[in-house]
Amino acid sequence: MVKIEGKYKEVMDRTEWVAIATCGENGPHVVATWGDYVRALDTKDNEVIVVPAGHYNITEENLKKNNRVELLIASRQIEGTYGPGQGCCISGIGELQTSGKFARMAKEKFPWARGALVVTVKEINNQL
Ligand SMILES: Cc1cc2nc3c(=O)[nH]c(=O)nc-3n(C[C@H](O)[C@H](O)[C@H](O)COP(=O)(O)O)c2cc1C
Repeated sequence: MVKIEGKYKEVMDRTEWVAIATCGENGPHVVATWGDYVRALDTKDNEVIVVPAGHYNITEENLKKNNRVELLIASRQIEGTYGPGQGCCISGIGELQTSGKFARMAKEKFPWARGALVVTVKEINNQL
């Protein structure tokens, strides 16, 4: 298991939004969430990312057929290799959960959520 810590955590703490890509039958599918939302659902173990799911219907269907997911986060406020700005690509396994502790957490903080998109982190790489 890979943890979101050190420089990766700094980027996660500052990213304004998060891109979330899954594989569909007709190609890639990209959605998003706000960085604030992910930080509000911080599990503290830094291995699981929990996102409040209001919609994510196509994402859910894609994950049932292929559970691989990639997230992209970035902030200009974090120093990268070449100057200000760092971004990280997070690869993991995703599931849309409508019950269980993560779904409860999401519904408590975000009454509009029908559940949680739960990503178990497998790999992280800096992009800059
Ligand atoms: C910056 C940003 C943040 C978003 N945050 C959420 C979110 O937290 N939860 C959510 O369900 N959809 C969010 N959306 C909408 C999704 O990107 C997506 O369009 C919608 O959930 C439909 O998903 P689907 O195409 O997988 O059915 C956000 C979109 C943007 C651009």
